Amino acid sequence: MKILVTGGAGFIGGNYALTMVKKHPEDEYVVLDALTYAGNLETLKDVAGDPNFRFVKGDIRDRELIDRLFAEEQFDVVINFAAETHVDRSVEDPGIFVETNIIGVQNLMDACRKYNVRRFHQVSTDEVYGDLPLDRPDLLFREDTPIHASSPYSASKAGADLLVLAYHRTFGLPVTISRCSNNYGPYHFPEKLIPLMISRALADESLPVYGNGANVRDWLYVTDHCSAIDLIIRKGRVGEVYNIGGHNEKSNLEVVKTILKALDKPESLIHFVKDRPGHDLRYAMDPTKIETELGWKPEYTFDTGIQKTIEWYLNNREWWENIISGDYQNYYERMYRDRQ
Ligand code: NAD
Ligand code: TYD
Repeated sequence: MKILVTGGAGFIGGNYALTMVKKHPEDEYVVLDALTYAGNLETLKDVAGDPNFRFVKGDIRDRELIDRLFAEEQFDVVINFAAETHVDRSVEDPGIFVETNIIGVQNLMDACRKYNVRRFHQVSTDEVYGDLPLDRPDLLFREDTPIHASSPYSASKAGADLLVLAYHRTFGLPVTISRCSNNYGPYHFPEKLIPLMISRALADESLPVYGNGANVRDWLYVTDHCSAIDLIIRKGRVGEVYNIGGHNEKSNLEVVKTILKALDKPESLIHFVKDRPGHDLRYAMDPTKIETELGWKPEYTFDTGIQKTIEWYLNNREWWENIISGDYQNYYERMYRDRQ
């Protein structure tokens, strides 16, 4: 199969490409990424020379470029990871979220229709369901939970999900959607909770916890998300939505304290700061459908995954220190200057 992975220089798409290029040497992978602030080619260096891997710099909002690429490559499968993803940035500047997360998805699906792509897979999020109360641990998001987004980010992802399902119903486009809970692991951009707290704790800097730290997220180790997507594109039923999550609910304060303990740093580093506007209280996934229908099971618990993640950040300081210093933004220029 020839597989287009959009957003493959980001956190989850990067982990997907790194894992699957090696796991499926019989398949060809093309990563398309605009290399926004969140995209980092250094993430892909372990597969950059592999014969079944190719990187293309480009924007999913660019219809001409997308059309040309699809005509050239004749993809069998398109997996769309590309998105603006940071809730806090969507509060600052919602416009780019609508453009990339909705218009970009439309462009990709129009190309899928034109070039008869066999599967369009949209990588979505549990945030499209809104939030759950903190005092009802019995409630979980199911695939039929109504869409009820809170932030410009989640609203843009919800809009995309509706458009994807409409393209299936109206045009018969063979689509699938996965909605995953919060991911963590290697190559996570250091402005998101877990890598931010690890990098700041290592520098003995204060750890900014929003509100009272009681908000709950359902954490999934990133490669478990990747294995679920790989299963869905191969065995998932067209037109279906699959929830992905591993029953790892933790409050933000629990997560931060776990990190501090593992790094042997004092809890006095924790600073409670002004809450995020519209801050979702709790996310929690019911992954029964993907478990029973496709036999998916996560490999990591939160305890094993967070230890592995902390070790990775300790052993790969250069990757995230380059980001913090802004150096990685010169990487494309350095690597590709002579290859244009
Ligand atoms: P990320 O921000 O780390 O990576 C996004 C990637 O998309 C970057 O490499 C960026 O350069 C690229 N990109 C952005 N705009 C683009 C455009 N217009 N054209 C081409 N490329 C573009 O995000 P992530 O955490 O890896 O998330 C990947 C996907 O998974 C997103 O769709 C997100 O909504 C979804 N998701 C994320 C989580 C999570 O916890 N991080 C959970 C569930 C779902
Ligand atoms: P984040 O990693 O931004 O993911 P999302 O908002 O998509 O769930 O945030 C995870 C949780 O951590 C969320 O409840 C907000 C909180 N948070 C903090 O308390 N402090 C921080 O500095 C950040 C970035 C997040």
